[in-house]
Amino acid sequence: GIDLGKLLAKTGLVTLDSGFVNTAACSSSITYIDGDAGILRYRGYPIEQLAQRSNFIEVSYLLIYGELPTQAQLDEFSDKIQRHTLLHEDLKRFFDGFPRDAHPMPVLSSAVSALSTFYQDSLNPLDPHQVEMSTIRLMAKLPTIAAYAYKKSVGQPFLYPDNSHGLVENFLRMTFGLPAEPYEVDPALIRALDLLFILHADHEQNCSTATVRMVGSSEANLFASVSAGINALFGPLHGGANQAVLEMLDGIRADGGNVESFVDKVKNKADGVKLMGFGHRVYKNYDPRAAIVKKTADEVLGRLGVDDPLLDIALKLEERALSDDYFVERRLYPNVDFYTGLIYKAMGFPTRMFTVLFALGRLPGWIAQWREMIEDPTRKIGRPRQVYTGATNRDFIPLDER
Ligand code: ACO
Repeated sequence: GIDLGKLLAKTGLVTLDSGFVNTAACSSSITYIDGDAGILRYRGYPIEQLAQRSNFIEVSYLLIYGELPTQAQLDEFSDKIQRHTLLHEDLKRFFDGFPRDAHPMPVLSSAVSALSTFYQDSLNPLDPHQVEMSTIRLMAKLPTIAAYAYKKSVGQPFLYPDNSHGLVENFLRMTFGLPAEPYEVDPALIRALDLLFILHADHEQNCSTATVRMVGSSEANLFASVSAGINALFGPLHGGANQAVLEMLDGIRADGGNVESFVDKVKNKADGVKLMGFGHRVYKNYDPRAAIVKKTADEVLGRLGVDDPLLDIALKLEERALSDDYFVERRLYPNVDFYTGLIYKAMGFPTRMFTVLFALGRLPGWIAQWREMIEDPTRKIGRPRQVYTGATNRDFIPLDER
């Protein structure tokens, strides 16, 4: 592509593109999306193949280092992660200070930000060895932090990570296990959560990833940049949508399951009501991740013997929306968040943990994108321009004359 910014800068003209609808902020070789065709590939590999044949750790390696690992590389990467899952005892005490009803997302971002205070040996973003250490620490510790955010909210004791388990199993054990009771995690659930993490692992320049790159462009370290990304993900128009979908489905159920009147409200744009989990800035076709999640939702709910009326409402909503001119004309299809909440709920996660699960999945993407940014010799600090619309020059009026 042409670097229009550089060309225009010479003319004194500024491009106004609110929401970056058509402005690329970087070149990247990590993730490819064709929104019209509904295609998603990580490092060239189709998401459908990775979902079916790979696992989250392997996909994380692929995103971060650019190639699928050999067995030895994969073993080394997993070993390193497993050896760094513990949190410093002082960091654990941070959790005591948060209110018990705190939302786990700001707890997560605060704890990640605090990693900068505990690992001052890994703060130089220009030292590849330190970047590697921060990468491993983040991959290892985020699941522990997420599990503790949950334990804090339910008033249960924290469990130490048990490194005889893989990342996803360890996370489920630290979340739902209790000290005195052995906790057997159903392998089908491990596989389902692993799959959801793969589907969330990267999505090129979305709001949180663009934030991670922007913060990192000032040469802020990886912990600071990822903490900012977690805060960006918290918003209901981004990662917070999975929580918002379930709240929407619950609301429709409370209203007697009336899908018709809800869709009418959306179409009339009454009170800014949106069909949460629908629409996407880039996909103008079925989100390929949503197709996989929909199938998984069916399998997981079936396996757990959960008969959730919200699934019926979701299916009806989708069918109704996809046959309605409002949604067809605007090319609004289900996105990845539409069905994930139903799976998380069936697994036993409270609604407030849903976006935390998204963050766990997205972490390798944030890391890969930050590393690509920092390694780019042509990189510049992110600094958008503006079109000024305020007052022209005016004289100051003293307080007693106003
Ligand atoms: N429900 C109803 N109408 C919608 C929806 C929706 N979910 N999404 C977009 N529209 C409408 C808009 O009102 C607009 O209509 P108009 O042309 O009559 O004004 C038109 O479709 C175009 O929408 P924009 O808001 O311009 O699309 P944009 O690309 O800015 O927004 C977004 C994308 C934020 C994802 C939007 O579709 C949305 O709010 N969806 C619901 C929230 C959600 O599910 N977010 C998760 C996104 S995926 C992710 O982060 C993993």
